[in-house]
Amino acid sequence: MELPGPNASRRRFLKAALTVGGASALSACLDRFSEEPIPQGTDDPTSFPDRQFAWNDSLERDDHGNVVLPEHHLFVYLNYDGEAGSEGVPTATDREQLETALRTIERAYEWSNRGVVFDLSYSPAYFDRFEEPLPDSVDLPSPERLTPVDTPTLDEQDALLHLASDRSDALLAIEETLFATGDDAPDTLNGVDVAGRLSDVFTVDDRRTGFIGPGLPAANQDGVAGIPDNGPVPEESPLFMGFKAAFAGNQATEEYVTISTGPFAGSTTKHVARLRQELDKWYGENSHDDMVSKLFSPRHAESGAVEGVGENLGDHSGITDEIYERITETAEEFGVVGHAEKAARANRDAEGNVRTLRRHVESTDDDTASLQFPSLQQGISEFNAVQEAMNGTDIVAENPAIKPRVKNGIFRYVFVQNRGNFLVPPRSLRAFPTSTGDAPAEQ
Ligand code: HEM
Repeated sequence: MELPGPNASRRRFLKAALTVGGASALSACLDRFSEEPIPQGTDDPTSFPDRQFAWNDSLERDDHGNVVLPEHHLFVYLNYDGEAGSEGVPTATDREQLETALRTIERAYEWSNRGVVFDLSYSPAYFDRFEEPLPDSVDLPSPERLTPVDTPTLDEQDALLHLASDRSDALLAIEETLFATGDDAPDTLNGVDVAGRLSDVFTVDDRRTGFIGPGLPAANQDGVAGIPDNGPVPEESPLFMGFKAAFAGNQATEEYVTISTGPFAGSTTKHVARLRQELDKWYGENSHDDMVSKLFSPRHAESGAVEGVGENLGDHSGITDEIYERITETAEEFGVVGHAEKAARANRDAEGNVRTLRRHVESTDDDTASLQFPSLQQGISEFNAVQEAMNGTDIVAENPAIKPRVKNGIFRYVFVQNRGNFLVPPRSLRAFPTSTGDAPAEQ
C-alpha cells in the first residue's frame, strides 16, 4: 500500500498513513495537518480511570447512545527486552522506564477520540517467567484454536499495546517517538518532553492497524484482497460486511467485564483475534435479506428488522432471548442460522447481562481485508464459550442443510489467522506486574 495523493480525503489519508506507517507517513501527516493541533493531555494521574480499559466515559456516543470508537487503531505486539542480568524478570528500573513512557503518552494527548486512548496488556507467556502462577481470580489460559475450521497462529508475545485515536498521526507520532532508538530520537511528543521510551524495555514483534466508522470501509475497498473489484461496500457502512455492529444493548459494560476480587482487581481479560475476510461470495451470492439472516437471524430478515446498514436498530440489535432460544426451530424452518443469534446463546449470564465487550475494527494490513477483533470479558473461558456458541457445532450436527462453513452465520466469509489472550491490569499495575499482582518500585 502507498500513501494517497494530496487530493485524497482527510479521513482516507489518515487511514492510509497509519497502515503504511513509518517516518515518511508521519512527515506527510505533519505537512498536511500542521494547522490542526491535537489536544494535549495532563500530568495529573488522578484524572485517568483506574482501569486502563475504561475508555467509554471519555469516548463519543452516536445519536442512539452507542459508544463511538476512535476511527484509527494500532496494535503493537511487544516482547520484553529487559536489563542485562535481569534473568528475564523485569526490574524496578524497567518498570519505572515503562511507566514514564506511558505517562509521556498521557501528557502528550487528551484521553478522548480526538486525543488518544490506550491499554497495555500482558500474555500468559509473559506471566510464565515468574515462579508463582497467576491467582485463581485471573482466568488467562494460553491461546488455542477455537473453531473446527481454522488453524490460527497463536500470539505468544509478552505484551500488547492497543492505541486508538481519530488522529492516526498521533498514533504514528507515538510509534516514531517512543519506539525510536539512538541519538536522533525525537525528544518531544505533541509538544511535551519525552521522558522514558518504550524501546528501553520492549522490542516490537508486530504492528497491526485498524479503522472503523461510516464511510471508511467504502473509501478503502479498492485493490484490497477479499473485496470484489466492483466496490460493493455501502458508502454509509462502518464495517466491510455492510452493517453496523456493537450496539450498546448487546455489549457488556466496562464494570461487568472487570475482575472484582484478588490482587488483580480492576483488570479484565482481552482476547484478540485477527480474521481474514473473503467477501466475494458475501456480496456475490447474498441479497440484503440473506445477509441479515446470516449476520443477525432469519427472524430479523422475515420481519424486515434491519434497514440498510442497520442504523434503524438504535441501541440494540434485536437479538432477544426469544430469538436465540428458538434457534433449533429457526435452523429447521429456514435452513440457515445467524451469527449474532448463535453467539448470543452464550453471551448472557443468568440475570440476562451481556458478558463480552467487543471493540472490533477493520484492517487492510497486507492489502487484505481483515478484522482485528478484541473482546473484553472477566475471564477467557467466557470468550471461549461465546466462540463455541458461534461455531454452531450442535446446529450443524442436526441440520444437513447447515455445514461448518455453509449457512452457518458468517463462517463462509471469515478465516481466523491469529489468536492471543491478554490480561489488562489496572493502571496502578500496568508497568510489568508480577504474577502475584505487585509492581515493586525502586526503593
Ligand atoms: C467480520 C466479522 C464479524 C462481523 C462483520 C460481525 C458482525 C456482527 C453483527 C452485525 C452483530 C449484531 C449486532 C451487535 O450485536 O453488535 C454481531 C454480534 C455479535 N458478534 Fe460479531 N461479527 C464478526 C465477528 C465476530 C467474531 C469473530 C465473534 C467472536 C465470538 C463475534 C461475536 C459476536 C457477539 C458475541 C455478538 C453479540 C451477540 C449478542 O449477544 O447479542 N463476532 N456481530
